[in-house]
Order: sequence, then C-alpha cells, then structure tokens
Amino acid sequence: MDASAPAQHRSRAFKGDATRRFAAWAHSYDRSILNFLLFRPSYLTLLEELHAWQADHARRCRVLDIGCGTGSFAGLVAVAGLDADVVGLDFVPQMCVRARGKLPIGTDSVRFLAGDSEHLPFADASFDLVTCSNSFHHYPHQQAVVHEFRRVLAPGGRVVLIDGFRDNVIGWVVFDVAVARIEGHVHHAPWRRIDAYFRDAGLTEIRRRKFNLLFPAVATIGSAPALQGAGPPGGGSDAEAGTVRDPKPPLSRKVLAG
Ligand SMILES: C[S@@+](CC[C@H](N)C(=O)[O-])C[C@H]1O[C@@H](n2cnc3c(N)ncnc32)[C@H](O)[C@@H]1O
Repeated sequence: MDASAPAQHRSRAFKGDATRRFAAWAHSYDRSILNFLLFRPSYLTLLEELHAWQADHARRCRVLDIGCGTGSFAGLVAVAGLDADVVGLDFVPQMCVRARGKLPIGTDSVRFLAGDSEHLPFADASFDLVTCSNSFHHYPHQQAVVHEFRRVLAPGGRVVLIDGFRDNVIGWVVFDVAVARIEGHVHHAPWRRIDAYFRDAGLTEIRRRKFNLLFPAVATIGSAPALQGAGPPGGGSDAEAGTVRDPKPPLSRKVLAG
C-alpha cells in the first residue's frame, strides 16, 4: 500500500467535509447565531491587531485573510476606510461569491479568490498581516499551513491566527466534544502545539490573547523578523507619510457596532 495513502485519506476527509458544509452554509452563514457568539468577536480582535500593526508601521498594510468565509472581516476593513488592501482566500467558491456580493459597489481595496491554505497562490513576502479566524481546525496539515503563512509574510509582518480555545474545560466540551461531533473531520489544536508550529516556522515574538467565555477563543500572534538594519518602526524607507490612521482600538468597536 502506498505509504502516503493515510495522509491523502485524511486530507480528502477534512477538505471534503469542509467543502460540503460551507458550500451549503454560504448563503445563511451571516445570519447564524454563531456569528454573534463566536465569529464577530474574532473580527474585533483582528481589527485590533490591524490597528496595532499600523501603529508600528507608517504605511499601507497588505492583508491576507485565509479561510475568509463570507468576507466579513475584509468588508469591515473596507467600510471603515482603513489604510489597507485585503485579499480574502477561501477553499469554497460559494463563500467567495457571497463575500464579493457583500462589498459596497466600487470597493477596490478588497478582492476574494478561491484557494487552499496549504498552497497559497502568492509570492514569498507578499503580505504584512496574515489573518485566519475560525478556519484552522479544518486544515488536515496544520504545520504546513503555518509554514505557508510564514512564507508569504514580509519581514516585520505578523500572523494572527484565531481558533477555538480547547485548553480549558468549557473549550474542551464545546470544541473537542460538541463541534467535533457536529462537524466531523476537524481538529482544534492545543495552544502549546500552535505555539510549536509558530516556532518551527520561524515566527517570533509569539503571544496569545484569549477571549469569549462561553465559546472560548484564542488568538495566537507571531512576527516575521524584521530585516537587519531596518529603521525604527514607522520610519522605513517605503513609509508614506501621514497614511496611518488613528490606531486607537475603540475604532474597531465602533466599526462592529455600525
Ligand atoms: C467557520 S468559517 C470561518 C470564516 C471566517 N474566517 C470567520 O471567522 O467568519 C471556516 C472557513 O474556512 C474555510 N476553509 C476550510 N478549509 C479550508 C482550506 N483548506 N483552505 C482555505 N479555506 C478553508 C471554509 O470554507 C470556511 O469558509
């Protein structure tokens, strides 16, 4: 038997389940109760991390949102007029269609495309911020995906990976028992493993933010080392003066409230 057969089987099972589930869910996804309980708090955290990046770098941010779903985070960035270009990538074409349909007419700072997180169709060092929320547990080869995150990240860029936090009792019951039973082929990695993935991929300054009590989530943030000899934050040679907006986190709360 071909030694790679179990891995191929696992890959097909995970991706097949995700495709069926999200193709069927694309239309009603934004009205789901999970949107209020789980997904919207994640967009808030992503917006705060985008603000944090912009506070440290005085230039436009190139964002890649992986497993973007119906593109809600990208849409919030565009509607708020933040100084960023966003590419949303999702495995399921129906999700991308829905995401495009939600964008205000004339938005040219956001685009969506179908693709696999394991094989990102981008050149090395193309993005300043790689985000991924509530999608990582669908990936059969998580370590390989984190390497892809790192590959497309420019020096000084950051990864913000959000997924269910299954390292306390509530999280274990919600994600390892309930979600795993409902969704089939999924795996919520323990935080220590995510930390190990980040280190193995060469990401540094790793930190985590936990949020949400009933559906606990964790954001893991890591950086690609800046180039040797690069100037102080915000003072790089390609910085455009005056392009950074007020980086106060409360703006992201206003965006969500709107
Ligand atoms: C629960 S949704 C999260 C969407 C969005 N990030 C959010 O927080 O609302 C998970 C998304 O991951 C996508 N996905 C699953 N496997 C994927 C893969 N291998 N590559 C890219 N996207 C994938 C699904 O199609 C789905 O849209």
